[in-house]
Amino acid sequence: MIGPLNHIGIAVPCIEEAVKPYREIFGITDITEPKALPAQGVRFAFVNLPTGQVELIEPYGDNSPIEKFLQKFPKGGQHHMCFEVEDIYAAKAHVEAQGATVLNEPRIGAHGTLVIFIHPKNFSGTLIELMETPKHTECDKD
Ligand code: CO
Repeated sequence: MIGPLNHIGIAVPCIEEAVKPYREIFGITDITEPKALPAQGVRFAFVNLPTGQVELIEPYGDNSPIEKFLQKFPKGGQHHMCFEVEDIYAAKAHVEAQGATVLNEPRIGAHGTLVIFIHPKNFSGTLIELMETPKHTECDKD
């Protein structure tokens, strides 16, 4: 049921500051421009690596879930990890049938596909995101 590890989500107080060590220490140049995702209360950018991505997420707007995380970890830290699935509704039904707690109804995530989050209590304290694998077509411009 579970596909590739897509990204590791890192909560940060400021994306512009957070990308610096990836550029300056690691020399990575393939980093996306920050974008807001108001529905989820986050601003995000992806550091692109050959094997996957680091997703930097910053609070956006009022009541951002990232704000609470940063109150506990003011310098930022690992927030979640994300695996790809073929069908988010089938994945939700499956993990719930196994007794895991899904925190939200499927909604559009940072990659433009549907995502759900699984409660950290089910994975040794790690928040898990599941996202539908983006379907690329001939018409894709990115
Ligand atoms: Co994510």
